[in-house]
Amino acid sequence: MQKSILITGGAGFIGSHVVRLFVTKYPEYKIVNLDALTYAGNLENLTDIEHSSNYVFEKVNILEPEKLKEIFQKHAITDVIHLAAESHVDRSILSPMDFIYTNIIGTVNLLQTAKDFWKDNLSAHRFHHVSTDEVYGTLGNEGFFTETTAYSPNSPYSASKASSDHFVRAYGETYGIPFVITNCSNNYGPNHFPEKLIPLFINNIINNKPLPVYGKGENTRDWLYVIDHARAIDTVFHKAANHATYNVGGFNEWKNLDLVKLLIRLMDEKLGRPSGTSEALITYVKDRPGHDLRYAIDATKINKELGWSPSVTFEEGLSATIDWYLANTEWLQHVTSGNYQKYYEEQYAVR
Ligand code: NAD
Ligand code: DAU
Repeated sequence: MQKSILITGGAGFIGSHVVRLFVTKYPEYKIVNLDALTYAGNLENLTDIEHSSNYVFEKVNILEPEKLKEIFQKHAITDVIHLAAESHVDRSILSPMDFIYTNIIGTVNLLQTAKDFWKDNLSAHRFHHVSTDEVYGTLGNEGFFTETTAYSPNSPYSASKASSDHFVRAYGETYGIPFVITNCSNNYGPNHFPEKLIPLFINNIINNKPLPVYGKGENTRDWLYVIDHARAIDTVFHKAANHATYNVGGFNEWKNLDLVKLLIRLMDEKLGRPSGTSEALITYVKDRPGHDLRYAIDATKINKELGWSPSVTFEEGLSATIDWYLANTEWLQHVTSGNYQKYYEEQYAVR
């Protein structure tokens, strides 16, 4: 059976890198990118591959089950890689219902559609659910998240992702949907929407705008280059046993403030500013409610069982990311016009 893979959220940050990897590496597969094109979805992320003969885009919302059914039929979908989601923690604090609809109900719509469409031969298919390490809640100063860490989500975003993971598992156990789940740490790289820490701060440094560090900047995240995440998805999708879950991370922990200082050093150099000039932009603002202190992934299982490891060092990845933003000012202008300004005001004006 020829593979016809539905990649949801393929116009977003991570999804566009997954789509590109699959379209170029597997010309024998048909890749169907299904995306509602919310504020975070952007077809400009995919202009280099949009005319590939094994690629098709469908503008569909996963909250519309009838349309999902039509897409499964139209393209004889054999597998799903599910990335479509509301993904920003701060937005989930402002508007939790959007996260409940898309991340939970949207995921169940997809599971239900796949279950019905694949019912005659379920085991020939695969549902790969792309999730986050935030489902595990927060770590103290020590330890790592493993695949057996108990779920303990703290934000509406992570609670909605945890719920979606549970539904995927439940559809596997109850109805026999062959699933795999990956839980990844913080991604960074080209095409990242400038609401998340790294692209927001790159954009603000370029424009000499304040850098709003939450609290004291002591929270820690484990950063992974987005293309390494796409490689991990490729590996798990093709090699993992059914019902397996894998943590994906970079063994690359940074306190926010240290990361911001590294970013400033690299950017001042690239912008021809005297070293450290942009440190004057650092502004400490009110902390994020329920702000998880530390995330750190133990990625031993995916490394030992499937042979995946990150391919890019943090300095290389960060430098390439900054270069991408400096070379793609038009992309930045497009995504920061319109509603972005409204969101920015709401999030930061009175913080
Ligand atoms: P993103 O916000 O950049 O992109 C999300 C995409 O989903 C957009 O293209 C958007 O248009 C689409 N979408 C949103 N709602 C939709 C709906 N109702 N129907 C159809 N499409 C819809 O997100 P991202 O950072 O690329 O994250 C992708 C996935 O990876 C998410 O599931 C997220 O939880 C997960 N994840 C993200 C990170 C990270 O660091 N960004 C880390 C681990 C896991
Ligand atoms: O761990 C994986 C998760 O990483 C993904 O599931 C999420 O989709 C993704 O958004 C990301 O969540 P975070 O909340 O960790 O990422 P964010 O870039 O929003 O914030 C990173 C850290 O920086 C966090 O400690 C909050 C802080 N921060 C963030 C912003 C936007 C600031 O200090 N100032 C800011 O303006």
